[in-house]
Amino acid sequence: MSNLTHGDKVVLIGTGAVGSSYAFALMNQGICNELVLIDLNIEKTVGDVMDLNHGVVYSPTSLKISSGTYQDCKDAAIVVICAGVAQKPGETRLDLVNKNLNIFEAIVKSVMDTGFNGIFLVATNPVDILAYATWKFSGLPKERVIGSGTILDSARFRYLLSEEYDISPNSVHAYIIGEHGDSELAVWSSANISGKLIAPLLTDERKEEIFVQVRDAAYAIIESKGATYYGIAMGLARITKAILQDEEVVLPVGSLLDGEYGHTDIYVGVPTVINRSGRKDIVELPLDEDEQAKLANSVKTLKEIQSPYWN
Ligand code: 2OP
Repeated sequence: MSNLTHGDKVVLIGTGAVGSSYAFALMNQGICNELVLIDLNIEKTVGDVMDLNHGVVYSPTSLKISSGTYQDCKDAAIVVICAGVAQKPGETRLDLVNKNLNIFEAIVKSVMDTGFNGIFLVATNPVDILAYATWKFSGLPKERVIGSGTILDSARFRYLLSEEYDISPNSVHAYIIGEHGDSELAVWSSANISGKLIAPLLTDERKEEIFVQVRDAAYAIIESKGATYYGIAMGLARITKAILQDEEVVLPVGSLLDGEYGHTDIYVGVPTVINRSGRKDIVELPLDEDEQAKLANSVKTLKEIQSPYWN
């Protein structure tokens, strides 16, 4: 994309628990050299900026952190949206749809009004619905709007499998795809450790136990401490790094399906090649019949929520 904004300025909209953990992860890993924080709660943002700046001397790279306004999006490489209402105990991610769609309409229009010409990374739930909404509201090409998708679910899956086999999660290659939420699915048919398939090593009961732990992890954490933020923050930082460093790496992010996996007009988590232009390609994993049916169900679930807003 020839006219895409260069540089590595990141603007973060929404500095709640997820946003500020993400800012901390960016600083810790030296992923960008300019970070601007925007939030309705200006007092908190000012405090966050001070607090973060006090860590900069120990960051691996030099980094300018400030609080800002929408005008800062004009020359941003990436705008990351973590703003919105969060899930309460007992609520599903999809329960948040109405409230957060209204918030997103205002945010995305304000960003686009500045002449923003970079990449949106969306983390707010329900993330698949809101990534789609961001794509629609912004009018940007699908390559330039990425959701966090199943980056966190896949990390949870790899972690649990790494515990099962006492092996680094980096050597576990396994994906959760579909909705970031209750209808997601584990792609057991290709899950492997250094090429060795995992599915034949586990009983159906054990596979189901592991999957349920992945799927319901957010509920367990929200019951325990009210919110989840460190895991997603690391996932967002990983996607940001992949974009800014033009990595061409495959990550399970939220991408608009346009015929891939036999579906269209929906954002879901699927393995996606990420580079400096955003999403380059979707990797179509070979799914078995059961997985295909589960993905179709996940797409259907999301479309039922999404369709009334866009038709
Ligand atoms: C999570 O999965 C709540 O979507 C958030 O941790």
